[in-house]
Amino acid sequence: MARTGYRVGIGHDTHRLEPGDALRLGGVDIPHDRRAVGHSDADVLLHAITDAILGAAVLGDIGELFPDTDPINRGRDSIEMLSAAYERVRMAGYRVVNLDCIVFAQRPKVLPYRDRIQRRIAEVLRIDPDTVGLKGKTGEHVGPIGREEAISAQCVVLLEAVR
Ligand code: CDP
Ligand code: ZN
Repeated sequence: MARTGYRVGIGHDTHRLEPGDALRLGGVDIPHDRRAVGHSDADVLLHAITDAILGAAVLGDIGELFPDTDPINRGRDSIEMLSAAYERVRMAGYRVVNLDCIVFAQRPKVLPYRDRIQRRIAEVLRIDPDTVGLKGKTGEHVGPIGREEAISAQCVVLLEAVR
């Protein structure tokens, strides 16, 4: 495929919630009375970001790179998966310009943790935290998000060709 200067990507993810004591979100542990269920650490935000950068570079998706049937991925730190996916994106000749993310959760509020999460993501992608957009949205107490049965995240990313 001919390489253009810019590539846009989108990522989405959902995890089931169950009683627990912390939520891993954007590589940060947030004390909470529910936890996300998944084969890895179930970090819904990092999974959406990983899919967005892979999608923008047309390098497949997170499930292809890190199959949940592979024992190596059990309980795996999603920071590692994002980092490995970004290495592939860099090898393909792209870097992240900016990203914008939404976390869909009735609780907890994302706002108090926003700066820490932005810094963590920026560190992995070697970008300025000012280029990491992050916001939370409730489910207005309806649907699986509103009933706190699930948490979702979406991400759009812009990549630019570096050579
Ligand atoms: O007011 P609106 O219906 O647009 O949004 P909301 O879902 O009621 O959330 C209100 C505000 O709470 C959001 O704009 C975020 O600033 C914050 N929020 C958050 O930080 N974390 C969440 N999980 C949900 C909402
Ligand atoms: Zn996931």
